[in-house]
Amino acid sequence: MRASTLLLAALIAGSATATYRAISPKTNWTDEEARLVLSLGLSKLPPLPADPSNAVADDPRAAELGKALFFDTRFSANGKVACGTCHLPDRQFQDDLARAKGVGVTARRTMPIAGTAYSPWLFWDGRKDSQWAQALGPLESAVEHGTDRAFIAHLIETHYADQYAALFGPLPSLADVPNHASPTGLGPVLDDWMALDDTRRDAVNRVFANVGKAIAAFERTITPRPSRFDAYVDALAAGKDTVGLLSLQEEEGLRIFVGKGECTKCHNGPLLTDNFFHNTGVAAVPGLPEDQGRSLGTDQVLADPFNCLGPYSDADPGDCAELKYLAKAGHEMTRAYKPPSLRGVAGRPPYMHAGQIATLGDVLVHYNTAPAAPDGHSELEPLNLTSTELASLEAFLVSLDPISTEAQP
Ligand code: HEC
Ligand code: HEC
Repeated sequence: MRASTLLLAALIAGSATATYRAISPKTNWTDEEARLVLSLGLSKLPPLPADPSNAVADDPRAAELGKALFFDTRFSANGKVACGTCHLPDRQFQDDLARAKGVGVTARRTMPIAGTAYSPWLFWDGRKDSQWAQALGPLESAVEHGTDRAFIAHLIETHYADQYAALFGPLPSLADVPNHASPTGLGPVLDDWMALDDTRRDAVNRVFANVGKAIAAFERTITPRPSRFDAYVDALAAGKDTVGLLSLQEEEGLRIFVGKGECTKCHNGPLLTDNFFHNTGVAAVPGLPEDQGRSLGTDQVLADPFNCLGPYSDADPGDCAELKYLAKAGHEMTRAYKPPSLRGVAGRPPYMHAGQIATLGDVLVHYNTAPAAPDGHSELEPLNLTSTELASLEAFLVSLDPISTEAQP
């Protein structure tokens, strides 16, 4: 069935009075296709969801402090690594590497940051439930920043005491806190943490959490940029001529994306991700420890002292519904990962959680053949698309590149 004038107008404007004129004569979207295409446009992106767990999430002073921290290499074991080392603003806040390089080499690929404020779960396996809790992970990872929370609290005292105090109140006294101490550390770093009393541990944890909250306020300002695809959707929504906004090949690829490619099962909404977790049969990387994906991520987020229900969260327990109702994952979540937003995807190979697939063309071959998962069960079925159809799908994905390549914010 082809879209009726009335139905499409209602879809577009939410009102039966809008008029709909003929668009690209070649397009002929069905009702279902039109509904899906319109649902992917950036103008359908809702306002940023509030983060009740972070009282400074929308404070511009926090974003300013967070930005400084994001690019400050002093917050690393070798003085050379900042968040911005791996999350490069002019590279969609990622680094083009299969596996990231900080103080050491990570087991997974750097994720882009735009739009992650919309995601209830952070990281490929969702082991964090807020941007601020996420930010604390790399700081203490031995292969990323390689530091510890006591060291970070001291750096804040030395370099950012005023900005910190303006947002969070005066810094606690850190006089009796050793230079390095953390419950996640090894050897003397762990010993020194165990030797601290509860008041000092709590003081260090609070400064550490607040560092994450400032960084998260900055990350909330990193939003997805419009693409040629969005100009097309806007025109379609307004009942305007869409001719020339996408090529016929790109339009055909879009039809496959929302149709027989079944991509919108998981890559849906204006960010082209459902922010959930799926096993898509991506190969394991030889030589790396076994990666269980989401099946471990749920345990980790439930046990995280910096989660929404923890003592450093600003939320009321009632605000933490996602976490409260999270069930421990079983085998069905083995090797399930979060689909990244596909916005800008053509510009940031290699692909998948450890850069296992080198090119966009090879990603599409993966979907077309649906290989068996190395562990757990892949949700994919072979698509049997022709090479012409795969080329169209790839052309469509390129149309999701941001029009402006200017670094932000
Ligand atoms: C050494 C490179 C490196 C550094 C430094 C680094 N990251 Fe990452 N980032 C990664 C990798 C790799 C992942 C995915 C890791 C995983 O899933 O286990 C990631 C994931 C993320 C995500 C998750 C995005 C999503 O969609 O879930 C955010 C947000 C993020 N990093 C922000 C930061 C912040 C903030 C800092 C600084 C405090 C930082 N990163 C430091 C490499 C890095
Ligand atoms: C069953 C859910 C599901 C379906 C269906 C699906 N994807 Fe994905 N997609 C994912 C997940 C999960 C990942 C990340 C997997 C990983 O890293 O192991 C991903 C990753 C990707 C990536 C790489 C992104 C990056 O930055 O690494 C591209 C490109 C992509 N998908 C395109 C598509 C296209 C095109 C289709 C339709 C042919 C499709 N996907 C169908 C879930 C899905």
